[in-house]
Amino acid sequence: EKGGYDYFMLKEIAEQPKAVADTLLGRIDVAGNLTLDEVRIPASVLREVDKVVIVACGTAYHAGMIAKYAIEHWTRIPCETELASEFRYRDPILDPRTLVIAISQSGETMDTLMALRHAREQGAKVLAICNTNGSTIPRESDAVLYTHAGPEVAVASTKAFLTQLVACYLVALYLGQVRGTKWGDEIQSVIRELSEIGTQVEQVLETMEPVRELARTLANKNTVLFLGRHVGFPVALEGALKLKELAYMHAEGFAAGELKHGPIALIEEDLPVVVVVPSPRGRSVLHDKIVSNIQEIRARGARTIVIAERGDETVAPYADHLIEIPATPTLLQPLVATVPLQVFACELATARGNEVDQPRNLAKSVTVE
Ligand code: F6R
Repeated sequence: EKGGYDYFMLKEIAEQPKAVADTLLGRIDVAGNLTLDEVRIPASVLREVDKVVIVACGTAYHAGMIAKYAIEHWTRIPCETELASEFRYRDPILDPRTLVIAISQSGETMDTLMALRHAREQGAKVLAICNTNGSTIPRESDAVLYTHAGPEVAVASTKAFLTQLVACYLVALYLGQVRGTKWGDEIQSVIRELSEIGTQVEQVLETMEPVRELARTLANKNTVLFLGRHVGFPVALEGALKLKELAYMHAEGFAAGELKHGPIALIEEDLPVVVVVPSPRGRSVLHDKIVSNIQEIRARGARTIVIAERGDETVAPYADHLIEIPATPTLLQPLVATVPLQVFACELATARGNEVDQPRNLAKSVTVE
């Protein structure tokens, strides 16, 4: 049932192009409009939404962090993303014009369930993004958008994460469509690029051998740091989480702009630092800033592992190891940039002799608070 792969995780990483395509299937019509009728919250209610709050745990929380950038940029509705376990205990401000999005692969995570119950008690509308048909979280929500990743068996989430991102983008674009905000050429072209993103994920998967080789050489390191900016920041957090849970290594993700506020003190000779570089097109300010961050850490001895768009010549000279990914619009980049980090963590775990599909101390679904 592992389909010829040694681990479910490898199989699930390989299934990502299909999982992404399946999650898009039937949701974009030929004219490039979103047809999310299954989201049974009436358009009149969605037009009145004045705040979006996303709650989730772990990897799903990272998807929610990325969704915040997309929702605010495409719809101009203020959006906050919060760990479900923190949300309820701070008496959050919610009312019937708040749209709460609960993201969960299993649909059974207790913290996320408690957060959405609390939100509904305050009168907020709850939309679940979930991978498991008929599970508790969608049953208790006002509406659900299912991800079509298929069953995810490995404890570490991979294909569910990519499909959560796709579902978040669909919701963000749908909110934009319904409300007519910022609805223009950019949105149309993003929908087009999103509908073809599976091919790009496939391209990334075909070029992963050097990432595996690199991972094997780092098997006896103690620490790996991850840096990103904008949507690359949650990607950095996700890369670090995968490494902690699979390789049992100390791994931390930072917003690159925070380096000089403390973390740069950690940089020492030969410390591996993975940097997620945004596209040099589009928001080039971001790109320039991260190139100088890479120079700063390299000057202090870091071994830089750079994930950058193919053909990005400005960053290449500062990369000790360059991992190239296809060009995508900035907001969609996490769909391709996360894949090498999954492969990296999986290979490091294997090299360290760890059980990839069943990491120690972890369960696939966390049904206690
Ligand atoms: C990490 C991982 C966990 C889950 C988290 C939420 O690889 O799998 O961090 O993402 O426990 O689980 P769900 O999405 O089922 O609510």
